[in-house]
Amino acid sequence: MGDRVRVGLAGVGIIAQTHLEVLAALPVSLEFTVDPNLAEPPVFRGTTPSHYRDLADALTAHQPDLVVIATPTETHADLVAQALRMSPARVLAEKPLVHDPSSLDRLRSMNDADDLRGRLFTAHHFAFSPEVGWAEEVIDKHPEWGPVTQITSAFYDPYILRGDQAFASYVSSWMDSGVNQLSMLARFVDLLAITSGGQTDGGSSAWYTFSYRCRGVVGTARLRTSWLTGSSSKKTVLTFGQAGVEVWIDHTAMTGFASRDDVLLAVYGNDGRTPRKVAHYRPLYESLLSDQPDPVLGFDVAETVVRLQHAVPPA
Ligand SMILES: NC(=O)c1ccc[n+]([C@@H]2O[C@H](COP(=O)([O-])OP(=O)(O)OC[C@H]3O[C@@H](n4cnc5c(N)ncnc54)[C@H](O)[C@@H]3O)[C@@H](O)[C@H]2O)c1
Repeated sequence: MGDRVRVGLAGVGIIAQTHLEVLAALPVSLEFTVDPNLAEPPVFRGTTPSHYRDLADALTAHQPDLVVIATPTETHADLVAQALRMSPARVLAEKPLVHDPSSLDRLRSMNDADDLRGRLFTAHHFAFSPEVGWAEEVIDKHPEWGPVTQITSAFYDPYILRGDQAFASYVSSWMDSGVNQLSMLARFVDLLAITSGGQTDGGSSAWYTFSYRCRGVVGTARLRTSWLTGSSSKKTVLTFGQAGVEVWIDHTAMTGFASRDDVLLAVYGNDGRTPRKVAHYRPLYESLLSDQPDPVLGFDVAETVVRLQHAVPPA
């Protein structure tokens, strides 16, 4: 992408702060920000970029190499389409890429598949979390454990007190966290189809099950998400039934361990120096700005995740 990547950022809310913190340490310049609800641009390395209320105005005035869309989920589809149409830049959209499958079809119809694969990326940041990378490595080292025969993952966020604002930014607990669970699980298994489940508590909670394939065997993933909690807690357990091994990964603590019965087989700890979101987004951006971004950022994974998230369980 060149030595100095010119970045434009649309949406200067909560997650934009992490993007800005990570970008500040990379060889990039922040050309512009866009946010209709913000009067002043954020300070970036001691200076302020040009600021706009509308992405179209910013893209008319600038030639960015990368446009980052960090706006409420339901605005992603339109803003991504606008960025792809009005500039030749790469586009990094926050997750989920879009809020409904018809928006995927719209993006496909305006760009051929090669163009989308080369230009459009989704910030599936949980797939870059250090405990996920550790689990992937330890599983690769132990083919004798056989396939992952069951997965249980529970993601809780304390958003219930944010009320309507949480729904406005994130749509629902499942739309917000299901994408994190599914894109993270794509590191370990091939996701196949929804098998049961639904949303409850007016969209504040969900329980879904999915089939997947791993090392030639089909297993079940059980996914719980909820905003009905006082604090954030995110954990995943991968069960290797044939070997009696379990791999526990704690995404909140960024830790993990593997055990068989009463034997501790492997552990992963964290030095506590890097805040969780920075620990996700730093490797994500390093991959995005490289010649070959990780496929988990690509359109094919985003499409699989969006379609699975919206699939209707069989009756
Ligand atoms: N908050 C998190 O921890 C987190 C983590 C990962 C991903 N995300 C994703 O990032 C996205 C944003 O989440 P957030 O928590 O930052 O929400 P937020 O509501 O805090 O921020 C969104 C910002 O976008 C601005 N905005 C709205 N419409 C716009 C438009 N048309 N053009 C430009 N700016 C516009 C809003 O004014 C607001 O400042 C969501 O899709 C969410 O799923 C959030």
